[in-house]
Amino acid sequence: MKAGSLTIVGTGIQLVGHLTLAAKAWIEQADKVLFAVADPVTAKWLRSLNETAEALPYNTNNHRRRQTYQEMVEKILTEVRQGLNVCAVFYGHPGVFADPAHEAMKQAQNEGFRAQMLPGISAEDCLYADLGLDPGRNGCQSFETTDFLIRQRKFDPTSALILWQIAFTGNLGFYKLEKQSQAITVLTEVLRRYYSADHKVIVYEAAVYHPVCKPVIKHIPLATLPETEVTDVSTLYVPPKALAPVDSEMMMRLGMHLFTESVGIR
Ligand SMILES: C[S@@+](CC[C@H](N)C(=O)[O-])C[C@H]1O[C@@H](n2cnc3c(N)ncnc32)[C@H](O)[C@@H]1O
Repeated sequence: MKAGSLTIVGTGIQLVGHLTLAAKAWIEQADKVLFAVADPVTAKWLRSLNETAEALPYNTNNHRRRQTYQEMVEKILTEVRQGLNVCAVFYGHPGVFADPAHEAMKQAQNEGFRAQMLPGISAEDCLYADLGLDPGRNGCQSFETTDFLIRQRKFDPTSALILWQIAFTGNLGFYKLEKQSQAITVLTEVLRRYYSADHKVIVYEAAVYHPVCKPVIKHIPLATLPETEVTDVSTLYVPPKALAPVDSEMMMRLGMHLFTESVGIR
């Protein structure tokens, strides 16, 4: 194994409080810390944990986010190739909607370096807590919004639906879309094929500076989504529209009919 290693960790969403003890230890002992985090206070705090901490390049002038992400990967690998034990820090869970983290892992491993990723607390984890959603109840489907639309993802409206990056619908770069609300209107039209106009959806933002700030939880009828303000960190939660019917034949095959009464399956 070559000298030099890569450890990728996440800060979680909430300032300081979401960082795991393991992630903190890797940050403190790294030869070089590189970070891509969403707020300046977290950046300052990371510098206080390790004075080598430096922001990853984040060029928002690139037409494609992919190009910006490639520049981040290059910076991470440059440090690892110098034989340093590098800790790369991303916000939330470092492996959730974080292409550069996965790409850096892959490249480091392909080049013969030790590489590992530690889990962190993602926006979806916060959503479960703040909105009282248990994915074990009706199941839960998560999609990136543009991907959801352009690939016509198959999904089950009787199960929970989470759409990420709604503010970037139809936008592969960082630019502000002139027709932002048009893209959200298209999303609303597609969702309307499955849900009624008054189906209550939630535009959600977990609190970063908890408990000083509270999460943003906007309950709105689906039809009003195009007029609702969304930000770069908004996530859309669409609750199940109804309970899915059970397949009694399947229950028979599983031997469940014997217990149906006692477990109260509807
Ligand atoms: C590039 S992804 C990063 C996700 C992050 N790695 C995580 O684990 O949550 C950015 C998207 O995550 C979601 N997101 C980020 N911060 C959030 C927050 N504070 N509340 C709700 N959703 C958030 C939004 O959908 C946003 O567009």
